[in-house]
Parts: sequence; structure tokens; C-alpha cells
Amino acid sequence: MTRSDSSEWNLPPGLRYPLHFYAHKPWVKLGEPIRLFEYLHRTYGSIAHYRFMGTPIIFINEPDYIREILVTQASSFVKERTVRRMKILLGEGLITSDDPIHIRQRKIVAPAFHRQRIAAYADEIITSAARHAGQWKSGQVVDISAAMMSLSLELVARTLFHTEVTDDIRRINDEVNTIMDLYNFLIAFPRMEKFLHLPIPGVVKFRRSRARLDRVVHRLIEEHKRAGVDKGDLLSMLISSRYEQSDASAEQMGMSDEQIRDEVLTIFLAGYETTANALAWTWYLLSQNPEAEAKLHVELDEVLGLHRGQAAGDAAPFSSHRLPTLADYPALRYTEQVFAESMRLYPPAWAMGRLSTQPVTLGPYRIPAGAHFFMSQYMISRTPEFYPDPLRFDPDRFLPEARAARPRFAYFPFGGGSRQCIGESFAWMEGVLAIATIASRWRMRYLGSAPPVPQAKITLRPRGPLLVRLSQRENA
Ligand code: HEM
Repeated sequence: MTRSDSSEWNLPPGLRYPLHFYAHKPWVKLGEPIRLFEYLHRTYGSIAHYRFMGTPIIFINEPDYIREILVTQASSFVKERTVRRMKILLGEGLITSDDPIHIRQRKIVAPAFHRQRIAAYADEIITSAARHAGQWKSGQVVDISAAMMSLSLELVARTLFHTEVTDDIRRINDEVNTIMDLYNFLIAFPRMEKFLHLPIPGVVKFRRSRARLDRVVHRLIEEHKRAGVDKGDLLSMLISSRYEQSDASAEQMGMSDEQIRDEVLTIFLAGYETTANALAWTWYLLSQNPEAEAKLHVELDEVLGLHRGQAAGDAAPFSSHRLPTLADYPALRYTEQVFAESMRLYPPAWAMGRLSTQPVTLGPYRIPAGAHFFMSQYMISRTPEFYPDPLRFDPDRFLPEARAARPRFAYFPFGGGSRQCIGESFAWMEGVLAIATIASRWRMRYLGSAPPVPQAKITLRPRGPLLVRLSQRENA
């Protein structure tokens, strides 16, 4: 069977003409793919198709089909074009690589993310969150989005790469912001990888940012190598890793500096932007939902108690609650529900894509190799069938029984199957402990006159700063 045997295929319902015929429609706008997803879902239901430059593109908003793609028929797919294009930044790191590189790298990196290992990061999460919040003053206005970026970047640097947060580590965030701004241009440009040497202004900007990121990462690798001691962190693991070559000699060799660079940059970027955005949206949502905020405070008061005078070493504003510890993590159930509900409404990874390498059957549909498939965490978690009154913020949707009543892939902020997020446990722990540390002392009031606008870049970020006014809880 070949792609041209069109009678063999049974595509789901969808747009009659190629997408560019609809360029004048309000639901087709460069850089705003969610508008198109919403239109397709509204018009055709849970599975729909359109064509772009001759390629069939399938949009899926049905949990069982999502499972088929990510888990059951995963071997018939690779990552799709926009992810592959991110190789211009991330090389052959875990997010962008295909097997066999992916499977080999995942084995090397996995131990840094095992549960016991992650537990050792708890203290760092709590003390860093307390230190950040310890600099705040009651009544102060802060851009909570920038504050969470700074906290998250620091946490990845300290826990996974055992490195101090110097100015050049902080600069990672500036370069990432520049690249995010260029993101739509970079992925929309056909065959961008072939034009990276050209003096096109956006490309020159991208090259400069990438070179600066490279310098920071290579310095990190060099310093670790020079120190010569295994610090037990992820970077030491990458440097000392040995894997068997697949050739007959099975000779042992280390990872090349280039491969280490790709992994370090991938994990840095995947690890801080996502969690920082999830936390920023959480503060916004709590500030808009006093009932949920009050329930959160009840839990924090119960779990963290009132320990006036006991915390002699605490920074001044932290007089009433003790700081959380790893031992409190399992008891912070409602805090976890708040974080889960925040990622339902504003999932940092808002969509995922795959490219079929073989013909695929989904229910009654038969789709050829070479088709692109998109699934959107943002769309599925706002679908009334799974989440009645979907725009309402209600952490009780994540009570165990409510969760069990929904199909598994009606909520997949961390993806699924063999490419599921390797940092998921890390992200949950960081989110829950950072919320507990900060919310036990601080309340935030969103100052914008309209709700913040989510921008679908590589991650779902609020457009512009997210300004909140802080007040200390005892004084609130
Ligand atoms: C709220 C926080 C996070 C969210 C929402 C998130 C989401 C995701 C998603 C959806 C994927 C799968 C992408 C796909 O299959 O196409 C993924 C993969 C990945 N994530 Fe995360 N992530 C988060 C935090 C982290 C953290 C903290 C780290 C590391 C420190 C991390 C590292 C990675 C890596 C390396 C992959 C690629 C895994 C593979 O393909 O083997 N992520 N993440």
C-alpha cells in the first residue's frame, strides 16, 4: 500500500480544502494554533483532519485515541516536524532524539530522577523557595512569573547540576526569552535548519542566543570535568557514563561533549520553564479563587502548624509556620490538588505532536504513514464532557474518586508512554513544596484589569508580566 492509494484511507471528518484556503478566517492565525484546534473540535468533534502543504494533519481530542498514539501504537510514531525542528537548539537531547539514541540516553539519565534521588532535592526546594520569598515585603508588587522563573532555574541548577547560580546561569533565562519570542518564526519557516547560516535578522538573533547558551553549558561541563570528583549529580552521571557501542567490539566509550551539551541544555530548559509557568498560573488562580485559597490555608495550618518562636533562625517575615519538610509531602493533598487543577487550566506543555511512520488505525479511521497528529492538553482539559463547567477552578476535581472516574488521558500534562516526562516526580514535588512554603506566609492579589493572556509558545506562558501585590498572611 502506498500513500497514493487514497481509496485505502479513511480520514476523519475535516476541512475540505488545504488550510491556506482558510487564511482569512479568524480561527487561522499564525502563532495561535489553539484557535484552530477549538474550531476543529467545535465543528467536527473529537477527531478531525486538515491538510497543510499536502500533509494530512489529524487533531485528536479523545482520550482513547490519545492512548493509542502515545502508548498502544507508539512504535508507529516519531516526534513531528516542529519538535524535530527544535534540534536546531537542543540537538539530540532526550526531547528531540529518536531511538536508538533516545532509549540509550534515557537509561543513562533515569537514575537522577528516581524517587529516592528526587527526595534528596526536597530540602533545596524548600530553602530556595523560603529564601526567595524571604526577600519580599508586605505591600510589594512583584512579577510573580519572573520570580518563579528565577526560583525554578535556581532549583534545576543546584539539584541536577550541583552548580551555584551565577550571573551566567541567570542569563539562561534571558536567552530562553529571546528564543521563545522567535519561536513561531523559527518553526513556521520551512527548512529552517538549512538557513541557519544566513544573515536573516531573526536567525542572527537566534544564533547569538544559542551561542551564549552554549558557552554557559560548556563552562559547566568543563568545571565539572576539572573538579574531577563525582558530585553525585546528573552532570557527573553524564560525564562518567559509559555505554556499550552497538558494533561487535562492544567497546566502552563516554558520551561526546556534544551529546552531553544536548542533554544538559534539554534538561535545563525542560526542567525550569515548565514548572515556573505552572507555579505562576497557580498564584494567579489562587488570587482569583478565595474559597480554594482558604481551603489551602486550612491544610497548611494543619500540616505546618503554628510554631511561633520556634523558628529562631527563620527570616523575619516567617514567624508563624514552620517550613515544610519532605515528611510533610504526602500530607499536602489539597496543595497537590491545587497544583493539578492549575495545570488542567493552564498546562505548561499545551500540545504534543507525532508523525506516523506506518499506516495507523484509530477506531473506524485508517490514516497513512507521513500524517501529523496533534493532541492538546489545553483542549482536552477544557472539554465539558470530562470537566463540567470547565473554566471553574475547582481543585476537588482531583480528589482520588473524581480522578478515577475520568479516562486516563483526559489529563496528561506530562505526556504518556515511553516519552513521558522524565521530570514528572521532580515537578510535582517542586510544585507542592514551593506552594506550601510560599502560601503558608504570603497571599497574592493579581493586579491586572483583565485576565492574563496565555501565549502558546514552546510552553504556555502568560503574555507580559504577571503582577501581584503581596501581603503577609498574618496581616492579611
Ligand atoms: C510542570 C512541569 C513539567 C511539565 C508540564 C512537563 C511536560 C512534559 C511533557 C508533556 C513531555 C512529553 C513530550 C512529548 O512526549 O512529546 C515532557 C518530556 C520531558 N520532560 Fe518534562 N515537564 C515538566 C517538568 C520537567 C522537569 C522538572 C524536567 C527535568 C528536570 C523535565 C524534563 C523532561 C525531559 C528530559 C523530557 C523528554 C523525555 C523523553 O522523551 O524521554 N520536565 N515533559
